[in-house]
Amino acid sequence: MKITIIGAGNVGSLTAMRIAADGLGDVLLIDVVKGLALGKVLDLEDARPLLKSNYSIGGSDDIAQVKDSDIVVVTAGLARKPGMTREELLAKNARILKDVCLKIKELAPEAIVIIVTNPLDIMTFYALKITGFKPSRLFGMGISLDTARFINLISQELHLPTTDIEALVVGAHGEGMLPLSNFTKVKGVSLDEFISDEKIESLVSRTINRGAQIVANLGTGSAFFAPSAAIASIVKTIVKDEKRTIGLCSYLNGQYGIKDSCIGVPCRLGKNGIEQVIELDLSDVQLVQLAKSAAVVAQTTTQLFA
Ligand code: LAC
Repeated sequence: MKITIIGAGNVGSLTAMRIAADGLGDVLLIDVVKGLALGKVLDLEDARPLLKSNYSIGGSDDIAQVKDSDIVVVTAGLARKPGMTREELLAKNARILKDVCLKIKELAPEAIVIIVTNPLDIMTFYALKITGFKPSRLFGMGISLDTARFINLISQELHLPTTDIEALVVGAHGEGMLPLSNFTKVKGVSLDEFISDEKIESLVSRTINRGAQIVANLGTGSAFFAPSAAIASIVKTIVKDEKRTIGLCSYLNGQYGIKDSCIGVPCRLGKNGIEQVIELDLSDVQLVQLAKSAAVVAQTTTQLFA
């Protein structure tokens, strides 16, 4: 199993480390910046005796090395600076993504592709249009990270282990995200049995702002520990054909009343990619918000081709 990660920044290199250390396949890290991927890979190789693992990892500055990959993770692109929205990265990252996607289409046409570059939902739809890949085989990472953030904040609020909490987030990986408190359960009991509406509202808005809070604190760059853990978990689900349900940015063709756009929804994931988009019984208000986010994704993506 050849798993290629494009972009050797913090998210890409940490993802490479996690996937390699989990023994999920032969990992290749690629970055156009000369020496960056190779330097990081040499360092990761040196960790093998210490981690008592003979994982396979390589590095290159040549995108052509993506050839015949089974899974490709695209993290290439700029990260946010303090005060920026993910959408402000649009023009620059679209240019980077286009080149990368054309190479994947040419050299790894059978790959399953996971888009991580921001603005995530737009970049996913854009990549889908450029490659013409089947939507089951090209999707975005986004809301599985937001779900983890929501669970973490709930667990801190309730002083309970994260494993006791099941939560769901749908929608855009951005301001339009919808942490769904009515689908969130603590040991099977609805969250609103534990805490007030006010507290839930605060948890929801803190989840939406979590990425920006991290950017503001870092000063330069954006989150990478939880994003790389979210990607590694997606890759593991595919490699091990786990058929778990994970929040992914998926193409929709009628589900949730949305046609021809990409947005975050729960998906059953296995060795062939997305096997099913799970349709939740959302409220009218939530459906309107989801449709609004999906419409922005579709419009903005269309403009990129203008
Ligand atoms: C975040 C960036 C990676 O949510 O989108 O932290």
